[in-house]
Amino acid sequence: MDRIRVRGGARLRGTIQIGGAKNAALPLMAASLLSNEPLVLTNAPWLADVRFMCDILRSLGVDASYSRGPRIDESGFLTLIGANLTGATADYDLVRKMRASFVILGPLLARTGQAKISLPGGCAIGARPVDFHLRAMEALGAEIALEEGYVMASAPKGLTGGRVVFPFPSVGATENALMAAALAKGETRIENAAREPEIEDLGRCLVAMGAKISGLGSSTIVVEGVTVLHGAEHPVLPDRIETGTYAMATAIAGGDVELLGTSRALISSVADLLEDVGINIRETNAGIAVARNGARPLSVDATTAPYPGFPTDLQAQFMALMATAEGTSLIKETIFENRFMHVPELARMGADIHVEGDTARVKGVARLKGAPVMATDLRASVSLVLAGLAAEGETVVHRVYHLDRGFERLEEKLSNVGADIERLRA
Ligand code: UD1
Repeated sequence: MDRIRVRGGARLRGTIQIGGAKNAALPLMAASLLSNEPLVLTNAPWLADVRFMCDILRSLGVDASYSRGPRIDESGFLTLIGANLTGATADYDLVRKMRASFVILGPLLARTGQAKISLPGGCAIGARPVDFHLRAMEALGAEIALEEGYVMASAPKGLTGGRVVFPFPSVGATENALMAAALAKGETRIENAAREPEIEDLGRCLVAMGAKISGLGSSTIVVEGVTVLHGAEHPVLPDRIETGTYAMATAIAGGDVELLGTSRALISSVADLLEDVGINIRETNAGIAVARNGARPLSVDATTAPYPGFPTDLQAQFMALMATAEGTSLIKETIFENRFMHVPELARMGADIHVEGDTARVKGVARLKGAPVMATDLRASVSLVLAGLAAEGETVVHRVYHLDRGFERLEEKLSNVGADIERLRA
């Protein structure tokens, strides 16, 4: 298994190209199931999870192909043609590897009248059930049964519009409901919908395919179903988690880095917090510039929350930053119950962190120390790389396949701005 070696201490200077968002690309890819015409996604990232979604879609008969030149700043094209669907079953072996694949339920059911999808099962960052997804499909007239670990969904006469009220604004369940409603008969109201920009991006793509949707970006989305959706070309939204991660990398290591192809608006809650930490953030013509010159970062508290709050997907990275800050910070995780697995690994690097329930108390230390550490999930693994940038000596992050799921060419992007980092191939 590949590892990543970081030698800490280098300041960062230069530019980093931000790619298309993984969490936008995955549901956008699933939208190809809704039409028999080609869906072309531009600015598509080429990540392990995207390749994996291609495999799942191919297993259902979608023709999926990707093309891009070799340059780091070249946009990728993902062409997906759902003209000849061959099945409506997603196997356990496929779904268990990537929970986000459950987002094929809504479009598959809407297009074919049936779907058999393995329950995703447990996940390292908490229980992560799918009950909201299933209740939403039922609200649109689907019959749901659970058999031998599979969700059997059927709507032989097609889905009908209805009222979907989420107990909590779930990202994936909102996306499933939106895609199912696009082809349902009549009007659907989705209440307490999640407001993440990736959902708005999916909605914009569906509108380009001919869907009738209003209220995108708000917590009530209204969809007037249509009988057929056509092909479209759609640019994938820039990745706000990648943006926030490199902003924090600069904050930890110090220096001055311009993040290209992204915007402050995408990470406004994070940018506000980083400014309180003492980081300078400036909008530029091509993106945003992030700088920390001299002074040590200050400790600031953070609580994760659904968008527009502070994203849980940046909690681990922010904790790495706070581990080196002056003072003590309280970091509260409200979205997932077991998302502090990076804490013992950061502690191996000398971080002073105590967890009580859903809150971590992080007392900043003057200097972290390099150590061999283990990646446990996608965002946790990148927090260890970030900590390594600020640590004395060498840090080797094991199990970086977690990282490859969501960060494209991370070591190349960081070494281009002066970090001493390399991938050690197995
Ligand atoms: C998405 C993101 C993930 C991010 C998360 C929260 C993608 C591909 N993944 O995951 O990176 O960390 O949003 O911002 O976009 N819940 C239920 N029942 C359900 C569904 C969810 O109880 O049926 C709970 C979850 O356990 C969790 C909360 O709702 O506590 C939010 O989860 P959700 O927004 O659904 O996360 P995902 O869509 O899985």
